[in-house]
Formats: sequence, C-alpha cells, structure tokens
Amino acid sequence: MCGIVGYIGDKKASSILIDGLNKLEYRGYDSAGIALCHQDQVEVCKQVGKLNNLEELVDEKKPQGRMGIGHTRWATHGKPSTPNSHPHTGCEDEFVVVHNGIIENYLSLKEELLSQGHNFSSETDTEALAHLLEENYEGDLEKTVRRVTAKLEGSYAFVVMTVNEPDKLIAVRKDSPLIIGIGDGEYFVASDIPAILSHTDEVYILDDGEMGVVTKDGVDLSTIDGEPINKDIFTVDWDPGMAEKAGYDHFMIKEIHEQPESLRRAISGRLSIDNQQVILEELDLSPEELKGYERIYIVACGTAYHSGLVAKYLIEDLVKISVEVDIASEFRYRDPLVSEDTLVIVVSQSGETADTLAAVREAQDKGARVLAISNVVGSTIPREADDVIYIHAGPEIAVASTKAYINMLMVFYLLSIHLAQIKESISQEKATDLIASLKNIPNQVAQIIKDSEKVFEEFASEYAKHENAFFIGRGLDYAVALEGALKLKEISYLHAESYPAGELKHGTLALIEDNVPVVALATQKSVLDKTLSNIQEVQARGASVTGVVLNKKEEVVDALDHVIEIPETEEVLTSILTVVPLQLLAYYVAVEKGCDVDQPRNLAKSVTVE
Ligand code: F6R
Repeated sequence: MCGIVGYIGDKKASSILIDGLNKLEYRGYDSAGIALCHQDQVEVCKQVGKLNNLEELVDEKKPQGRMGIGHTRWATHGKPSTPNSHPHTGCEDEFVVVHNGIIENYLSLKEELLSQGHNFSSETDTEALAHLLEENYEGDLEKTVRRVTAKLEGSYAFVVMTVNEPDKLIAVRKDSPLIIGIGDGEYFVASDIPAILSHTDEVYILDDGEMGVVTKDGVDLSTIDGEPINKDIFTVDWDPGMAEKAGYDHFMIKEIHEQPESLRRAISGRLSIDNQQVILEELDLSPEELKGYERIYIVACGTAYHSGLVAKYLIEDLVKISVEVDIASEFRYRDPLVSEDTLVIVVSQSGETADTLAAVREAQDKGARVLAISNVVGSTIPREADDVIYIHAGPEIAVASTKAYINMLMVFYLLSIHLAQIKESISQEKATDLIASLKNIPNQVAQIIKDSEKVFEEFASEYAKHENAFFIGRGLDYAVALEGALKLKEISYLHAESYPAGELKHGTLALIEDNVPVVALATQKSVLDKTLSNIQEVQARGASVTGVVLNKKEEVVDALDHVIEIPETEEVLTSILTVVPLQLLAYYVAVEKGCDVDQPRNLAKSVTVE
C-alpha cells in the first residue's frame, strides 16, 4: 500500500525522489520521507501528513546527495506519525531502510535486538530491519542483506543503503512489487512504474526472492540465496503524460475524460475489421479447452468485483454457462468449490491486491486454471496466473477507479462474445451486431461525458446537502448501481446504498423520505415497466429521482426530477455507458463538498495487505 522510490546517479537525488513520491502518493499517504547519502552522512527528512509537508521540510533542509531512497506510507504497524514514517535507521544513522509489506516476526526480532542493546524510536515493523542490518554488518552490505533477509518472515519489498558503502542501493522483493529502472548512467528503484516513468521506460521487474545491487554503473541481479540471474529488460508502453494531471483539477476527472481513448486501446486489434470475430491472441486457452468449461468463477475486490458482477449477467446471457462471482477476501478463506473443470477469472487493476493474489494461489492449488484480467503489465497477479488479458487502461492514479473499471467491462464484453462464439451460443449475426456496437462505444462514452458533465456540475450541490443516497436498478443496471454507490461513498463520504429496484420494499423503503436522492438506472427494456413502478414507489415517498435511461420515453421522463439519457446501443452493452454519469455525479458531489477527490481518507490505491 505504501510507495517506494530510490535513485542513484549524477543528479540531485532529492528532487527526483520527491517527484517520484508525488507520483506514488496514491499508494498511501499518511506520511512520507526521504533519506539521502552524502559523503559519509545520511540525512533523513520525514513528515506526517500530505507530501507537501515533506516538500516544505526538504525545501528548508535542502538535503544533499546523488543517491537516496524515499517512501509514502499508509499505516499498518504504528499510527501515522513522523517517527513511524519511513525511511528508518538503526541506532545510528548508518543504515537506512524503506519497506512495503509486513515483517510478521518483527516482535521477536525486536525483542532480541532490544536485548542486544538497540534502542527503537518507532512502533513499526520496518525499524527492526534497520537495526538487524546494523547488528549484522561485517563490512559487506550485500552479504549482510542476504543474511538478514533469511531471518525475515512475511511479505516485503525493501531498499537499503549505508554510509559505509555510499555507492549502492540494495533492493529485495518478496510478495510485494519492486522494479529497477534503467537510465543513462543512473538507476531507479520503485514499487510502481509511474514513479520513474518520466525518467525511463526500461525496467527490470524483480520476482519473489530476488534482489538487485544497484550502483551508478549497473545492476547485479541475483536470488536472495546468491544465485546470479539474467533478466530481460521490460519496456513499459505507457506514455509519461498519462501519469500527469495535464491541466485537470484532479486525476479522477482526467481519467474519466480519458475513457474513450482507453476503451479504444482495449479494443485495438481485438475486433476483426469485418465485425465477424473477437481476437484474443494473448489467451493461451484453445477453443476446445474453453468449450470444456461448464462453470466460471470470477474473483476480485471492490470496483474490480463490480466488473465481475456485470460479467455474470453477460456471460450467463450470451454464453449460457453458470457464473459465480466472489469477493477475494471471502473466496480465499471458505474452501470454494473449484476444480480442474472451473475457469477462475481474477480481476485486478493493480495486479497486486493481496486478497486477489491469495485467491489465485487458492484456485491453482485446487487445480483450476486462472485467467487474470489486469492493467499493470508485469504485476504479480498476471505473472502468477495461467493466462492474462490486459485491459490497457494506462496508469490509473486516482484512488477511485474509473477508466480501469470501464476497460475491465470492455474486456469482459470481448471475452463473453469470444466464448459465446466458441460455444455457438449466439448466432454469427448477433455476434456481428454486438461487435459493431462495441466499436461505437468509445464515441458514445465521449458523447455522454460531453452531454452530462455540465448537468452534474450544476445539480451536485443538491446531492451534497444530503447524508444518504440510493442507487436502484434491475439486472445489469443493478450491477452498475453498485459501482455508482461505491464511487459516491469513497470520494464524497456520502452514505450510499445500492439495491435491486424490486428489493426496496422489503425493508429499505423505510429510509426514503422527503428529498432523499435516488439514482434510478432504467435501461433494461424487459424490466422497464417494473423499474418505473419502483421509481414511482420512491417518488410517492418524497424521493428526488435522477434517472439514467436509454431513451427519453415520455412516461419515464415525466416521473423523474433529472434525466440523463444514454445513447442507443445493444441492451446487453449498456453497463459500459450508464456508469459514466455515475462517475461524474460522484466526482462533482465530492468537489462540491470540498473532499480530497484523488486521495480519499483511509484509502490507498493498491491494497497489498489483507
Ligand atoms: C474503488 C477501487 C477499489 C479497487 C479494489 C481492487 O474505486 O478502486 O475498490 O477496485 O481495491 O483493486 P485492484 O483492482 O487493484 O485489485
């Protein structure tokens, strides 16, 4: 959840580290710090709170050095405070560490170190590592790191440096991502690509149990046990501009506006020119193998889980096979009924979510084949899964996911049509119609943003006055309503509930009173009349209803206080359009309430702890 950055080269390290931390703030942001090695001294600057607090301190202290490490923290062990923030040192400022993950046996390590006379100044697990290095150092940092790593239990990615060898950084990875960026006479270490993307697009991606000794002259890669490794350089195809705000007030609104483009990337090369076929070249599963699956399990967390709920409707509708959708933190602990005949699809934007990763391992242990749908190339989940389809959304920086969700949906649409064609559960004519409509989706999303942004800007203030909001819909609309409610909750702190429209009367209707805002999605023709009745039910109790509708049918419009119309498309494809107004609503309500849109309280982009 935290972010790591490191630099060694000829440039001033402090500005490179601060710039990297700025790009990583989405990972966690209750405190931040940097440490620079200069001549035979280490200077540590750290501050609780937002990164600008650290920037002010760095401006004041002006730490020198051309090698250093930095960290943004999302507290796990020890409350957010300056002493608990990273980098951590031992008793003297000789060994410095930044660390992501959890050192599970830190209490016993700490006890031993205390008995050896070490004094601790924080409540963190990480500090034990700095003291261990200090205790075990015999003149060779690399050997010391290997020896010390052998004593650690848990999951970690860390970078260390020492004044005793002021020409190297050592990076170690186990169960938490870490990459080494290759520049010209300079090298970078980072937990995520955006931190170093403005400097280089060439990286080594460390695997579990590997370490890199990084100097100005190169990188030595080996296993923690000392076996040398040869690794291919990975070229990142993200444009550095994608990780900048580019004139927008927030990353979230920039990413909402990027959706037409990111959808085009998701379909690029995957739909035949004649609209006959979906082409998923990266899928290693043969048509025969795919045909053999009678059950699909989709496992994910949060927004990614919501994309799975949409996929259940699609796959069951188009492919006619049964789909179960599970939250990863539940799946991993409940002995799920998966086996060789189940295709398990895991969905994760970051590719690093701890619970989803555990679900991959659980499913594989049970003999299932795991297909990952992910955004971050080279991240852990796609690397461990048997197959992967990338969503190609580009870097997503705002904590609230928008373009990744919509691209997940697009990939599920592609996969569902592909499976349906293999299983011959839809006619060629139907497939061709769907493919033609899919190609039109990016333009339609652009149209919705253009048409509805102003509307939301204007009536967001009505929502911002309330403490509760409700989202209702039936079928596919309900799956999208869940995502709409989550978006509103996480960035505007407004309590939002999502219900299947027909379920309200079984209890929740009691909460509807004068002016309570209700968002009603009404795009599914087969249940439109039923949804309309439900809209009337809430209106009769005083609710103010915003409808997201497929076309402005008079009887629908009359019933609504605000109407957002989405363009005509195949009914099964509407989810990719209806979510856009809901994202805009959440964004403008959060702005109206003065919330920290990109970095909502208590949340982090990449949840690498359970
Ligand atoms: C909400 C959001 C989260 C993530 C969830 C899973 O806007 O972004 O709910 O969807 O933490 O993250 P990934 O997809 O990285 O596994």
